Amino acid sequence: MSRSAPWITVEGVDGAGKSSHIDAIVAHLRDAGFTATATREPGGTPLGERLRTEILNTPMAVTTEILLAFASRAEHLDKVIRPALNAGSAVVCDRFTDSTYAYQGAGQGGSLSEIEQLERLVHPGEQPDLTLVFDLPVEESLRRLDLTGKTPDKFESQGAEYFSRVRAGYHARQAADPNRIVLIDSTPALDEVKEHVAVAVQEFLARWDMQARIQVPGARRPRRPGA
Ligand code: TYD
Repeated sequence: MSRSAPWITVEGVDGAGKSSHIDAIVAHLRDAGFTATATREPGGTPLGERLRTEILNTPMAVTTEILLAFASRAEHLDKVIRPALNAGSAVVCDRFTDSTYAYQGAGQGGSLSEIEQLERLVHPGEQPDLTLVFDLPVEESLRRLDLTGKTPDKFESQGAEYFSRVRAGYHARQAADPNRIVLIDSTPALDEVKEHVAVAVQEFLARWDMQARIQVPGARRPRRPGA
């Protein structure tokens, strides 16, 4: 799909530290001359945030969880993601459909075919341009979650086996779509991980720039005035 600005999603098991990197990714995009919107799933719209509260706190059947995740997503795409991309703004989304495959699919044994059907219904042929998966051994992500001291939500309070399945789910997604999905090893100190994120985003933007030139000879991605 050809867009004038990229759509980047950020993923990973709880505790892998993805939230610490969203602002930096937005800053990299702005430095490259894009306007950029940061948003999240479940949520990103008033209705989506209400659904988020239910998804994160209310026990429910896994199919119900899948349906609510995609209901939030349909609203989010309609009200936030597509309008921003259509207006030429980059979008950085904290979690998207890869989370549903990893958490409801791999983690809880939900039906992959249900997820695939809803993916085709809600965003047929529309995928993020780049997905960064923050990857961490399960024991370390549980240790980091514990250190935050915050009350765990439904997913965060699951045990090590569940987190291992979620992590394996992300690895399987990455193996199936290595051009879109990049694993970021989150074991090192934050500053080192930030450098790896910067490299991954810059490499992606270089490819993006090249593609833009192939599609429209002479075209460049936008530059900040004076940059
Ligand atoms: P998270 O993004 O980690 O937010 P916070 O850092 O504020 O806790 O939490 C969102 C949770 O929602 C996370 O545990 C994964 C879960 N989730 C799903 O289970 N399925 C989905 O489709 C999405 C988008 C998220």
